[in-house]
Amino acid sequence: MKKDTILVTGANGQLGSELTTALKDLFGEEQVIATDIVQPQEASEGPFELLDIQDAERFSALVDKYQVTQIYHLAAILSARGEQNPVQAWDINMNGLLNVLNLAKEKSLKKIYWPSSIAVFGPTTPCDNTPQKTVMEPNTVYGISKLSGELWCQYYFEKFGVDVRSLRYPGLIGYKALPGGGTTDYAVDIYHKAIEGKELECFLSEDSYLPMMYMPDAVRATLELMEAEADKISVHTSYNLGALSFSPKEIYEEIKKHYPDFSIRYQPDFRQAIADTWPNSVDDQQARDDWDWKPEYDLAAMTQDMLDNLKKLKTVSV
Ligand code: NAD
Ligand code: SER
Repeated sequence: MKKDTILVTGANGQLGSELTTALKDLFGEEQVIATDIVQPQEASEGPFELLDIQDAERFSALVDKYQVTQIYHLAAILSARGEQNPVQAWDINMNGLLNVLNLAKEKSLKKIYWPSSIAVFGPTTPCDNTPQKTVMEPNTVYGISKLSGELWCQYYFEKFGVDVRSLRYPGLIGYKALPGGGTTDYAVDIYHKAIEGKELECFLSEDSYLPMMYMPDAVRATLELMEAEADKISVHTSYNLGALSFSPKEIYEEIKKHYPDFSIRYQPDFRQAIADTWPNSVDDQQARDDWDWKPEYDLAAMTQDMLDNLKKLKTVSV
């Protein structure tokens, strides 16, 4: 066991609920302080604290109380939800990150993790195999906050030596928790609908390709990035991270191999316009070169694993 104390923000979320468990496995249950603005739906081992990431005073007090050495700052408002209340999304996403970066600077914290997103790209970005460095003109408040956040991370690294590391996740797909209001959420919902024997009303069109990733790959990438020697990290904004790229039609066809009667209806809504500005696939060569990133799951392997695990969960809950 390592002797760090980790504070996780947004620990109840889609990513937080899985990454917090992985961190507890690595560092020990008592060494990982899960926090969120709401209580968790299910009790779990180890400390939990209510924390609004905009409350700098309480944030600082919790870091002192637990003698925190690392923060995994996951709490955010995602792309689709962000468009419902752009100013609130900006405030939460930016003030939360600046609170974390200031705490890291003032209290000389060892390391910070903060996720960025494919949402940093926009309609003027080349959409196939999108390079690490390219044109970035996002047109969602979420994307604007992530791009600004990346530059703030680089600024705190360069000016104050804060060791903050970041990944531009694609859409994340997992069976343990539901997503919290993104443009890629259909790719989780589709598995639930297949298992429940219901039709999926898909909010994207059948040919909308997006970069995606299975949660075990995302969790492993995060831990590998954070474990890498500091001199291996050449990107101080955020690394492109790739794994899968598929359209709603392709994931539907894959699921149909397991559930031949499963049906889908395409009903694109405002999220289509967001998806249209994001890459189809990303070039993650820099992550592969710097800290040996390599994804494990393809669409078929992810689908098999998602369906197996969702079936087990359904059996347990009946
Ligand atoms: P989520 O919406 O599932 O979870 C966010 C969590 O933050 C929730 O538990 C929510 O209660 C909490 N939260 C919201 N406002 C808060 C506040 N003011 N103070 C404290 N907590 C607050 O999101 P997620 O999918 O788990 O995403 C985690 C991080 O990963 C985010 O930064 C997101 O931008 C990034 N990311 C996620 C994806 C994805 O596909 N899930 C893709 C790219 C990047
Ligand atoms: N999955 C996320 C979203 O759709 C991407 O950051 O918002």
